[in-house]
Amino acid sequence: MAATAPVGGKTVTVRVNGTTYEREVEARRLLIHFLRDDLDLTGSHVGCDTGNCGACSVLYDGTLVKSCMLLAVQADGASIETVEGLAEGDELNDLQQAFGAHHALQCGYCTPGMLMSATALLREKPHPTEDEIRKGIQGNICRCTGYVNIVEAIKSVGA
Ligand code: FES
Ligand code: FES
Repeated sequence: MAATAPVGGKTVTVRVNGTTYEREVEARRLLIHFLRDDLDLTGSHVGCDTGNCGACSVLYDGTLVKSCMLLAVQADGASIETVEGLAEGDELNDLQQAFGAHHALQCGYCTPGMLMSATALLREKPHPTEDEIRKGIQGNICRCTGYVNIVEAIKSVGA
């Protein structure tokens, strides 16, 4: 028997970390839930579902967005980058390694979103000042670190 499309469903075609996915989604499905539950890309976290914490941050056609603030259908035809796309094979990239080296995470809940915000910042400003780094991650809440080590980690990559 043919699979039944979700109520109010639409077929979306999205490129995520270089792989193209085609899925039927409900019109109301949030992009973060699409990534986590439909594509099994659970690196992006849900901290608030209200656009405040930044744990769900991803890049949408290269622009930093909070994926709990977008519908999956809005990503139709778009290219999305998530934290899973940062490593080069089994090798963490320079930014990820810097977070480890500078003890820029504790519980790690905010880390995927922080990494995506920092990635967006470093692409725009390869050598950001401390002020620019703090502005770049201002949409990301960390309950653990006090931010100092996160800023240091990002600064070390841009140095
Ligand atoms: S879960 Fe999206 S901003 Fe908090
Ligand atoms: S490391 Fe725990 S919220 Fe940031």
